[in-house]
Amino acid sequence: MSALTDSPEWQALAQHQTALSKRPLNTLFGGNPDRFARFSLNTNGLLLDFSKNHIDTQALDLFNNLSQKAGLKEAIEAMFSGDVINNTEQRPALHVALRSPEDQSENGQVVHQTLKRMTTFVDAVTRWQWQGFTGSPITDVVNIGIGGSDLGPAMVYSALSDFHLDGIRCHFVSNVDPAHLEQTLEDLDQGTTLFVIASKTFTTMETMLNAQSARRWLLDACDDSADNTKVLAKHLVAVSTNVEKAVEFGIPADNIFPMWDWVGGRYSLWSAIGLPVALGIGMDNFRALLAGAHDMDNHFRSTPATQNIPVMMALLDCWYQNFFATESRVVLPYSQQLHLFPAYLQQLDMESLGKSVTKEGAPVDVDTGGIVWGSAGTNGQHSFHQLLHQGTHLIPADFIAIAESASSNKEQHQQLLANCFAQSQALMDGKSLEAAISELLDRGMSEAEAARLAPHKVIPGNRPSTTLLLDKLSPQSLGSLIACYEHKVFARSVILGINAFDQWGVELGKVLSTGIYNELVNDGETSKFESSTNALINRCK
Ligand code: F6P
Repeated sequence: MSALTDSPEWQALAQHQTALSKRPLNTLFGGNPDRFARFSLNTNGLLLDFSKNHIDTQALDLFNNLSQKAGLKEAIEAMFSGDVINNTEQRPALHVALRSPEDQSENGQVVHQTLKRMTTFVDAVTRWQWQGFTGSPITDVVNIGIGGSDLGPAMVYSALSDFHLDGIRCHFVSNVDPAHLEQTLEDLDQGTTLFVIASKTFTTMETMLNAQSARRWLLDACDDSADNTKVLAKHLVAVSTNVEKAVEFGIPADNIFPMWDWVGGRYSLWSAIGLPVALGIGMDNFRALLAGAHDMDNHFRSTPATQNIPVMMALLDCWYQNFFATESRVVLPYSQQLHLFPAYLQQLDMESLGKSVTKEGAPVDVDTGGIVWGSAGTNGQHSFHQLLHQGTHLIPADFIAIAESASSNKEQHQQLLANCFAQSQALMDGKSLEAAISELLDRGMSEAEAARLAPHKVIPGNRPSTTLLLDKLSPQSLGSLIACYEHKVFARSVILGINAFDQWGVELGKVLSTGIYNELVNDGETSKFESSTNALINRCK
C-alpha cells in the first residue's frame, strides 16, 4: 500500500463506503427535505446538484480530510502562482494566466499583447477589411490542428452557435485522412478562405500534412504570374510556439500568433489557439468566454473543498472510481450545441489522468483516470441508455443542462429538460419487480404472463448522477463550465499524486508509425515486423 491508500483518511473513506453502499440512494432523500440544499453548490449562474450520489454529511467530512491529506489547497495555490508543477517537462501550467485580467507580470503582459493583436486581426477580418488575393473579403475560416489545437476551439464554436457572426463560417480539420480536408474544401473558394494553422509545436504530422495540402490548394488557384508569398500572406495564419518552423513553412512572421510552453495543448483554447472561435463569434464574446473562465478560477482558488464545485466533482470521481470500483463516467449534455463536449472532455480528462506512475515515478496503487464517454441527450436515450439503466456496470453520469434556451421553441426545450431530469431520477429510483408485475397486471396481463415478463422490466436503480445546470448557454457560462472541468481534472490529479500536464504515452505510436509508413511506400513486400503488421502492410500494398 502507498502513503495514500495506507492513510487513515483513505481507510476511513473505504469503511464509510461499505456502510453507505448498503443504503439505497433514494432512501437518502427519505425524511430529508434539505438533501438538495445540503448537497448542491452554486456559483456564477452554474448549479451543481450532487444530491443523487452515494454520499452523506459524514462522507463530505471525509472528503474534506482526504483533500487536506493530498495538500489540495497548497497544490491549487502552486498552480496559480506559476510553480513548476509539470515536473516531467519542467514547466508551470499557467492556463489560468490566459484569462486573468491585465496584470504587469511577464506572462500577463505577453498574454494581453496577444489579445490586442488578436483583436486587431479579428476586427480586420470580420469587418471585411482583410481581403483575400482576389480582393474579396474572407467568408470561411478553416482551422487546421489536432488534439488541443482542435477539440476545444471546435467544441466552443459549435456550442456558441447563437453568437456566430453573420458572413463568416468556421470549419475544423484535424484528421490526416485526406477526406477530412477535401470534404471541407469542396464548397469553399480559395479567394475567400483563411487557414489558421494551429499547432503548439508546429511539428505534428497530421497538421503539417493538412497544412501542406491547404497551401497547395491555395496556390493551385493562382495563375503562374501570381506572387506566391503575397497570396499565402493573405490566406495563412499560424498559432504556435515554434515561430521559426511556421516562417519556414511560408507564413509571414506578422501572421504568427504566439503560444507558450507554459500552456498545455489541451488547456490552450484560451490562448490564440482560440483564434477561429474569436473570428467566428467576435472578440467581445471571446473575452466574455475568458471572463467566465476567470470567474471559475476565482471560485476554485478561494473556496473551501466541500463548497468548491470542481473539487467536489473530483472527489466524487475519486469516490466512485477508487471506492466503488467504477471504470467509466458518462457525460450527457442535454444540449445539441454541446454535442462536442464529451469528445473535448475525453482529451482533457484521459490525456491528463491516464497515468500509471506518481509524480515521483513510482507505480500507482489505485486506479487513475477512468474512461470518459457520452453524447448529447436525448439521442443517447434511444441507444446506450439501456446499458446505463439495466446493464451490469455501475456508471456514474454527469448531466449538463441549460435552464433557459435561446430558441423560441420553448415547448421542445421543456421536453429536453424533462427528459434530462427524468433520466437522473430513473437511474436513481429504478423499478422493482413488484412494480413491474403490478404494472403488467393493470394492463390486463395474466399473472403467469406478468411473472414471466416482469424480470425483464426490472430496473435496478441506485445509480448515481450529478447534474450541472447552467442558467443560460453564453460565452461567459461556457467559459465557467470548461474551466470547471479543467480544475476538476487537476484536483483529481493532486489527490492521485500524478502529473496532469504531460502525455508521454502518445509518443510511441507516433514513432512506430514512421517505420510503418516507410514500409508502406517502399516497393516490395515487407518482413520487417511481426507477422500481423507485415500482413496488414502487404495486403494494403
Ligand atoms: O499527441 C498529443 C498532442 O501532443 C496533444 O497533447 C496536443 O494537443 C496535440 O498533440 C497537438 O499538438 P500540437 O498543438 O503541437 O500540434
